[in-house]
Amino acid sequence: MRSVKDRIVIITGASSGIGEATARRLAREGAVVILAARRRERLERIAEELTASGGRALAIPTDITVEADRRHLVERTMETYGRIDALINNAGYGQRGPIEGVPIEAIRQNFETNLFALIALTQLVIPLLRAQGSGRIVNISSVAGRIARPFSAVYDATKHALEAISDGLRGELAPFGIQVIVIEPGFIRTEFLHVAKEVSRSALERSQPYAPFLADLDRQYERLRRWAGRPEDVATVILRALTEARPRPRYAVPGHARVLLALKRWVPDHLFDGCVRLCRLGTKFIALRDRRP
Ligand SMILES: NC(=O)c1ccc[n+]([C@@H]2O[C@H](COP(=O)([O-])OP(=O)(O)OC[C@H]3O[C@@H](n4cnc5c(N)ncnc54)[C@H](OP(=O)(O)O)[C@@H]3O)[C@@H](O)[C@H]2O)c1
Repeated sequence: MRSVKDRIVIITGASSGIGEATARRLAREGAVVILAARRRERLERIAEELTASGGRALAIPTDITVEADRRHLVERTMETYGRIDALINNAGYGQRGPIEGVPIEAIRQNFETNLFALIALTQLVIPLLRAQGSGRIVNISSVAGRIARPFSAVYDATKHALEAISDGLRGELAPFGIQVIVIEPGFIRTEFLHVAKEVSRSALERSQPYAPFLADLDRQYERLRRWAGRPEDVATVILRALTEARPRPRYAVPGHARVLLALKRWVPDHLFDGCVRLCRLGTKFIALRDRRP
């Protein structure tokens, strides 16, 4: 599609962060955005704001892990607009904690939201796109889809799996005129870290032997905030992925994500781990330098 004008686009996780920024950007470009997430008031407020400023938006409260909600999302969209041009699979969260301390149920839940529900929703949409002979599916992965880190490996595993599913889907759906694109954001300033901390509280409490490392990690995230990208930057890349005539299979955003992925690709693992340690020391040094009067 050359432009998103009048296109019907479902965006999951549209109540905050990257999903909200994407909804706002696409609505400005003339798309009809279908907003899906659990927090009804937020979705409705965003939809009202978009409509008030001349956009077209429909809020459909959805928990993507609930089958009836997924069906309702797709059926309501079809009843209202008669077609779906793009699905942006963005809803997700990050489980943190050492693998030793994360309850297996919490691991399952993270996979349920970030992977299984995403696949199930995509399965509902594919036949409709196939019948139309066109459409795009944009999966929001992460740099974590290609780089796994200590204390984040559960979340990273969900995104690694999403990368694999996306690669498979890309080949399967290309003959039907459907493009599958992966977006790999780096560190983006959203509610993501706050939510990760909340959902990971019990896993972190059960992980006493790791407490000093986890505290260090928290400080590191704080230091990294200054380099974090904006959700609007990701929204711009999603718009490109939707409108470029020949979209790339993957887009990394912002610059630090591209650097990290290039390092990961070309540098052997043991050297890559060394680079990560060096970066950590570098951010510590910069933080100390900035604190000096
Ligand atoms: N921020 C980053 O640094 C970063 C980096 C790389 C990738 N990502 C990925 O980007 C995506 C968006 O994250 P974000 O950074 O924008 O974080 P965010 O502000 O926390 O947004 C997450 C969104 O997902 C929704 N969501 C979570 N569970 C859901 C469920 N069961 N059903 C429906 N919606 C659900 C949330 O809405 P409700 O709570 O209202 O349901 C929210 O709208 C995620 O897939 C994340 O993994 C983020």
